[in-house]
Amino acid sequence: MNPLFAFDDAQCRSLAEAHGTPCFAYSGAVAEAQFRALREVLPSRVRLAYAVKANPHPKLLAHFASLGASFDCASIGELERVETLGLPPGRTFFAGPGKREAELRKALALGVRVQAEGFEDLARLEALAAGALAVNLRVHPAFDIDEGNRIIGGSGPSAFGVDEEDVPELLRRAASLRHVRIRGLHVFAASNQRDASKLIAIHGAVLDLAKRLHEAHGLVFEQIDLGGGLGVPYAPEESPLDLAALGRGLSGLLARHAWFTGELILEPGRFLAGPCGVYLARVMRIKESRGTRFAILEGGINHLIRPLLTGEPFPVKAVGRGEGTIPYTLAGPLCTSLDRLGEVALPDLRVGDLLAFGTTGAYGLNEGMTHFLSHPVPPEAWVD
Ligand SMILES: Cc1ncc(COP(=O)(O)O)c(C=O)c1O
Repeated sequence: MNPLFAFDDAQCRSLAEAHGTPCFAYSGAVAEAQFRALREVLPSRVRLAYAVKANPHPKLLAHFASLGASFDCASIGELERVETLGLPPGRTFFAGPGKREAELRKALALGVRVQAEGFEDLARLEALAAGALAVNLRVHPAFDIDEGNRIIGGSGPSAFGVDEEDVPELLRRAASLRHVRIRGLHVFAASNQRDASKLIAIHGAVLDLAKRLHEAHGLVFEQIDLGGGLGVPYAPEESPLDLAALGRGLSGLLARHAWFTGELILEPGRFLAGPCGVYLARVMRIKESRGTRFAILEGGINHLIRPLLTGEPFPVKAVGRGEGTIPYTLAGPLCTSLDRLGEVALPDLRVGDLLAFGTTGAYGLNEGMTHFLSHPVPPEAWVD
């Protein structure tokens, strides 16, 4: 079975018949396999928190919760979704460069650990806290690795966290707070990284930063959150992340940093959810226009915007038609020339053919522009 597609051709056909097209379908078995494969290689002192922004489908959240996941949220909506899981305090985190007071209130009411991204977060939490409150500090580091797609944005200017060089000043101001105490560090510095050695290099730099802050300012870290960023293949020639190397690397970092006795946190979104999803849409028109062959589909950037944002298409197959060599520009039904899902080689397509886009379980429908042009929101089928 092709690992880029959670469902084979027969399954894609029956999902399309059962739910209509366009639609998304998520495989619980594939999501679980991703979670277990990662959990298995991680040292016990690493907590796995699923980044809800990747895909907040309730069945997916419940499935990950049943496997022992913690959760990373970044809005009140995500907090409310995780609230329905009835998790004990400490299993949920709340990040985001601009948090409203209502969101902070919600986080405190649920016993959620907040990733403070600046002094404003600390001051607002101080005003809301009834007693001692441990928070993590999100730092925007001065180092980065070759992120490539600039999703998080490297070491340049950033809206996320406190710039590393400004941490001493923030700590000086925070010393006057009565309730809020910084007890953790959060750094997320790269996205969609399939090279374990690069991930370990950056995680090592984060632990070095934590050690400097510990030594210079006496900060005691109960947890160090390394963010998400574990990559997945989007094309047959892309190799998957070497999980064993990642696990070994993290064990090595914990051994090297014996001063740190707390827990590490990983917040993968794409890695856990991406491979479980398929998006199904039918060809509505074929148009030859001045040397370009368009296949116009039932859905476009209203359902999948990642190709437009990053220039990287999702893998696509023509269900039941095998491989092909005819170049197509895949266009959606929206009235904008931005509505493109990529340029791909496919067999000779006919109107009504079913296309399947793989690895669309993360940053798929929930990232799309579903309101634009008011097409109906496609169904999302959960396959246990
Ligand atoms: C704070 C935070 N944690 C985790 C993630 C998940 O990242 P990924 O899906 O690359 O693992 C993101 C994504 O933007 C994020 O902003």
